[in-house]
Amino acid sequence: MSMGSDMYRQQILDHYKNPRNYGELDEPTFSHLGHNPSCGDELEFDVTLADDDETIERVAFRGDGCAISQASASMLSERLPGKTLAEVEEMDRDDVIDMLGVDISPMRIKCAVLAEKIVQDGAEIYEGEKDLDQTTTED
Ligand code: FES
Repeated sequence: MSMGSDMYRQQILDHYKNPRNYGELDEPTFSHLGHNPSCGDELEFDVTLADDDETIERVAFRGDGCAISQASASMLSERLPGKTLAEVEEMDRDDVIDMLGVDISPMRIKCAVLAEKIVQDGAEIYEGEKDLDQTTTED
């Protein structure tokens, strides 16, 4: 293992143990919940949009789960403010893998993308492009 990936592992553990933006927002523009049915881990995101109704201003999340899913939520919460909903909807799994900075085994991909998927679904539901109660990693 290279020193580089060791550093990223430390960063993942740090976000897992000290999640950033953990909690709830007062009167978020939208909230969305999702889970990974294979393990039961879940995350819920609150998002507040700026006055333009498309730029993310604030994000908070709460959840329970493995180090990868929770660290990925924490890291994502730091990167979302300033992005538009359209930019968020264009993100893909490679963006999450780059963000985490480690090789993710096929087994753990669902852990890694859960947060991103929830925020994307939340954005699409808010914009009326999708009708969904809860995000799961299965679809
Ligand atoms: Fe459940 Fe990672 S083991 S999301």
